[in-house]
Amino acid sequence: MDGITTAGLDSIVAPLNFLVPMSEKPVAYNYQPPPGVPVRTGQSVQHQVPIRNARPLIDRLSLDREGFVLLHHQTAVTNFYDEEQIRTIYYPECERVMKAATGAARVVAFDHIVRNAAISAKDNTIKIPAKRVHNDYTAWSAPQRVRDLMGAEAEELLKHRFAINNLWRPIRGPVLDSPLTLCDAQSLEEENLIASDLKYPDRTGETYSVTYNPNQRYYYFPRMQPDEAVLIRCYDSQLHGAARFSAHTGFDDPTMPPDAPPRESLEVRMLVFFPPGS
Ligand code: OGA
Ligand code: FE
Repeated sequence: MDGITTAGLDSIVAPLNFLVPMSEKPVAYNYQPPPGVPVRTGQSVQHQVPIRNARPLIDRLSLDREGFVLLHHQTAVTNFYDEEQIRTIYYPECERVMKAATGAARVVAFDHIVRNAAISAKDNTIKIPAKRVHNDYTAWSAPQRVRDLMGAEAEELLKHRFAINNLWRPIRGPVLDSPLTLCDAQSLEEENLIASDLKYPDRTGETYSVTYNPNQRYYYFPRMQPDEAVLIRCYDSQLHGAARFSAHTGFDDPTMPPDAPPRESLEVRMLVFFPPGS
């Protein structure tokens, strides 16, 4: 079957930002670049894209097919602006959720981003929503993260199936401003995934910028609440039978009031190691 049935789902139309195809490799800086160097190379183009309500499909979504699922999750964290709580309470919670959702043998949470446009100007550890269609890891950068983070164990771990998944949740709800849209991985063609450098002060990572293709099908979960989380497949080492990559972005929902409170969210990235032989 070619994807999930989409007829009859309510949808909105919203502008999404795509990379314009280019001959050079795109480069973006995650910090203030040296004088004269642009924060980002490449042009982006807006397309008006139908974005379907995925709530009626919740029970039928799969990480291996669509590349995203919605979960209910009650957290013990009382303050997501407390880095200590994120690392000591939320990371272990995420690892347990991810293990249960995937059957992984081992999960290692290693990175997170808090987003809140209202305070990002004063606090550079807090980011604004990302409004470009992208995927967080590439066929090169995913195994590279394992090498960076897992030391002497890396080469053995890389012999078996592994994934990098992301758990995205609102800190406050309902999310009205800048919801997250997810591209059904089955509708995503690899020719639209453009490897792009992402410069950090101490290393260069790689993400996929996404170029527009009318075949791409986008979904969102309207009015997400803080006891809900989207689990996103960013990379799977398995070449067949699973969603290898997906794509997502924050977007401006034209049906929402312009004075909706700024979205507050947290995403945690995890290395997901499957049992040998699985
Ligand atoms: C992510 C991401 C964008 C946003 O979770 O990887 O790109 O605006 N999020 O939350
Ligand atoms: Fe992302």
